[in-house]
Amino acid sequence: MKDIVVKGLCKSFKSRGKTITAVDDVSFYVTKGEIFGFLGANGAGKSTTINILAGLLTQDKGTVKLCGKDPYKDWEYVKNRMNVSTAYFPLSDVLTVRQNLRVYAKIYGVKDVEAKINQLLEDFELTALGDKRVNRLSSGERTRTALCKGFINDPQLLLLDECTVGLDPDIAEKTRRLIKEYQKRTNCTILFTSHYMHEVEELCDRVAFMEEGKIVTIATVDELKKRVTKHKVELTLAENGDDLKDLLKEEGLTVLAGRDNTLIFEVDVASDDVNTIVQQLVKQGLNLKDIHIKKPTLDDIFIHFARRKK
Ligand SMILES: Nc1ncnc2c1ncn2[C@@H]1O[C@H](COP(=O)(O)OP(=O)(O)OP(=O)(O)O)[C@@H](O)[C@H]1O
Ligand SMILES: [Mg+2]
Repeated sequence: MKDIVVKGLCKSFKSRGKTITAVDDVSFYVTKGEIFGFLGANGAGKSTTINILAGLLTQDKGTVKLCGKDPYKDWEYVKNRMNVSTAYFPLSDVLTVRQNLRVYAKIYGVKDVEAKINQLLEDFELTALGDKRVNRLSSGERTRTALCKGFINDPQLLLLDECTVGLDPDIAEKTRRLIKEYQKRTNCTILFTSHYMHEVEELCDRVAFMEEGKIVTIATVDELKKRVTKHKVELTLAENGDDLKDLLKEEGLTVLAGRDNTLIFEVDVASDDVNTIVQQLVKQGLNLKDIHIKKPTLDDIFIHFARRKK
C-alpha cells in the first residue's frame, strides 16, 4: 500500500516576466509507514512539491494519489487523513495557542477537542503558553504550536516541511522522539524535509535528492553513503606534521587540514588503500599516535550532490 504516489509532477511560476520551473517532471512514491526524506539545496522545489500535495498549490501537469485516492475527487477523505506542518506555518497572530488549535480541530473535525489539545500542549511542552497570543511567542514556541497543528487530527499521512527550524537542541530531540513514537504507534506515513542532516539520518527510511526541480536520486541513507567514496583520514602525530604534508602531496593525496600535530587528508576508497598508505608512511619514519578514518556523513553527501555540477 502506498500513501503517496506522484507521477510526472510539473509546476512553474511566472515572476517579473520570467518563468521559473520549480518542479520539473517529479515522480516518486512513499509506502505506508515509511518516513521519506526530501533533500535539496534552497530553491530545489521541495516546498512547492509539498504544497501541491497539501492542496495549497495546483500543479500544471502530473498526477497525485494520497491515501489511495485522487485528492481532487476525494478531498474530504484525504483531508481528514492528512496534515501538514512547517515552522513557517501561518498561524493567526491575534489568537492564542489554544484558540489557533481549536480552529484547526474544527477544520479537521476532531472529536474530544480539549482533551486532544491538552495532550498536544503537554507533548510539545506548551501547556503554560496555551493562553498566550501567538504574536507573543518566541520563534521556537511558534514552531511547536505549528507542530501541534500538524498532529491535531492523528493523521495517517503527515507532511513535515522544515518543521524543526529554530527549536533548541533539547526540544528538537524531543520533537524527533515524538515523531518517531507517533510513527511507530500509528504506522503513519511521513514526508519530511530538513536542512539538518542528522535529523534526516535519524528519521528517514529513504531519501530523495532534488536538484533544480528534478529528483536526481532516491535511495536509503546507507546506499547514498556508499556512493561517496572520498573518506577523510585524521592522523595524530608525535611531532609537527609539516614534513608529512609535503610527503602526502607528493603521493598525489589531498591534504585538507593540518594543525600542530594533527593532519587530515582525503582518500578515495575506490582506488586508495588506507592500510598501504599508512604502512608506507610508518616505514618512512612516521611516528603515529592515533588514526581516525571518517566515513562520509549525510552532510558530505548533501555537499557532494549539491556541488556536482558547479
Ligand atoms: N509563489 C512563487 N512565485 C514565484 N516563484 C516561486 C514561488 N514559490 C516558489 N518559487 C520558486 O520556485 C523554486 C522552488 O522553491 P521551493 O520553495 O519549492 O524550494 P525549496 O526546495 O523548498 O527550498 P528551501 O530549501 O529554501 O525551502 C525557487 O526558485 C523559488 O524561488
Ligand atoms: Mg522549502
